[in-house]
Amino acid sequence: MELYNKILRREAKVGIIGLGYVGLPLAIDVAEVGFTVYGVDTDKAKVAMVNLGQSYIEDVPSEKLSELVSKKKITAFENYKICRDCDVINICVPTPFTKTKDPDISYIIGAGEEISKYLRKEQLIILRSTTFPETTEKILLPILEKTGLKVGVDFYLSFAPERIDPGNKVFTTKNTPVVVGGVTKTCTKLTELFFSQFVEKVVVVSSPKVAEMSKLLENIFRSVNIALVNELALMCERMGNIDVWEVIEAAKTKPFGFMPFYPGPGIGGHCILIDPYYLAWKAREYDFHSNFIELAAQVNENMPFHVLDRLCEILGENGIPLKKAELFIIGAAFKKNVGDTRHSPAIKVMELLHFKVKKINYNDPYVPELKINGKIYRSVKLTATNLARADCVLILTDHDQYDANFILKHSKLILDTRNLIKARGLKKLYTLGRR
Ligand SMILES: NC(=O)c1ccc[n+]([C@@H]2O[C@H](COP(=O)([O-])OP(=O)(O)OC[C@H]3O[C@@H](n4cnc5c(N)ncnc54)[C@H](O)[C@@H]3O)[C@@H](O)[C@H]2O)c1
Repeated sequence: MELYNKILRREAKVGIIGLGYVGLPLAIDVAEVGFTVYGVDTDKAKVAMVNLGQSYIEDVPSEKLSELVSKKKITAFENYKICRDCDVINICVPTPFTKTKDPDISYIIGAGEEISKYLRKEQLIILRSTTFPETTEKILLPILEKTGLKVGVDFYLSFAPERIDPGNKVFTTKNTPVVVGGVTKTCTKLTELFFSQFVEKVVVVSSPKVAEMSKLLENIFRSVNIALVNELALMCERMGNIDVWEVIEAAKTKPFGFMPFYPGPGIGGHCILIDPYYLAWKAREYDFHSNFIELAAQVNENMPFHVLDRLCEILGENGIPLKKAELFIIGAAFKKNVGDTRHSPAIKVMELLHFKVKKINYNDPYVPELKINGKIYRSVKLTATNLARADCVLILTDHDQYDANFILKHSKLILDTRNLIKARGLKKLYTLGRR
C-alpha cells in the first residue's frame, strides 16, 4: 500500500490541526524524525509565531522550532486547504465543557467538517483530543463518510489519545506509550506504524471506543484519588492532630499497591477537571449515574471554597479583618512548572477573594498577567519587601523555583496549600491538611 510505504519511509506529509499544548510538541516530534509537517490553527497569532520559529509552549524551545521551520520541516497555516496535501492528519483541537459542564465537541465537529472538504483517497485521520466513547465512530466518521469515501477502503480513521504531561521532564511524548484504536484493522495498522516512527511503544486496542474510554479512565483515576486525599486533608484538619502530608509520606513507603496523590487548593487544567464530566454525561445516555466521578468532582471543586474558609479563620485568629487584609498570592498556574491557567484553582481562589479583601498581589514566573473579575493583575516580584508587606501569604502553586526558606523568612503569616514549606511547629505557618 502506498500510504504504508510513505509512512515507513517518512515521506508522508503530516497535518496537525490545532497547535496548542498537544499539537505543537507533536509537530516537533514528527518533524524531528524526518516527516514534513503542516500545522493548521484558527488562531492567527499562533500561526504567525510558529512560522517565525517562536514557541509559546514551555516544553518547546524556540531554537528547536525555528530550526525545523527554517528547514521547511514545519509550516503553519490558517486555512485547511493544505489538508489536501497531507497523508496523515492529527486532530488536536480543544474539548472543553459548557457552562453547565456538558461536553463541547464543536471543535472536533468543526475540524472534521473542514477536513472533509479536502478528504481524498489514501489519507489517515487520527483523532487525538480527549473525548467520550464513540465520538470517533459515531460523530467524526459520518462527517468524513458524507464525502462518499469509505473508511478502511478509501481513507483510514483512528483514535489515539494524547497523554502529554506538560512540564514533566522524565516522561515525555517519546517515552510515553501511545494507545491506538482504529475503525478497521488497516486503520489500526497504519496508525501503529505512524506512531512507532517517533514513540518508543505503541499499544494497540480493539476499537476507537476502548482507546477513548482508556484515556478517560486515566484522568478519572487521578481525579478520584486527588479527591480522596483532599477529603483526608479535611478530615485531618477536623481531627486536629494528624498531619496529612506526614501520613502520605508514610503510606508511600509501601512498595506495592499504593501510589501517592497530594491534596491542594483544587484541580484545574484542560484534562483532570473536564474529562470526568465527559464520561458522566455519556453514561447518563445509558441511565447510568457515575457516583465516583460526581463525588470526586464535588470534593475537588469544594477545595477553593475551603481555602477561603481557612484563610478567613486564620486572619480572624490573628486579629486581621478580612476586608482590610492585604494578600500576597504565590502561584497562579493550575500546577507546578507550567504557565497554563485554564480552570486554575488559584484563579478560582483569587476570584472568590477579589471583592472580599483590601488588596491582592500575586507572583507567578510563568504567568505575567491575569484577568480576575474584569480586573487586570500583573505578577509582582517575589521580594522580601513584597512578602513582608502582606498580612498573609497564600501559597497556591508550588513551582520548583520557589525558595521555601525565603518565603518563610520574610512573611508575617502563611497559608500553604501545597506543603511547599516543610517546616513544622511555627506559629506563623498554617498548612492545608493539618492543624
Ligand atoms: N494540555 C494537556 O496537557 C493535554 C494532555 C492530553 C490531552 N489533551 C487533550 O488534547 C486536546 C487539545 O488540548 P490542548 O491543551 O492542546 O488545547 P489548546 O487549547 O492548547 O490547543 C488547541 C489549539 O487548537 C486551535 N483550534 C481551535 N479550534 C480549531 C479548529 N477548528 N481548527 C484548527 N485549530 C483549532 C486553538 O487555537 C489552539 O491553538 C484536548 O482534547 C485535551 O483534552 C491535553
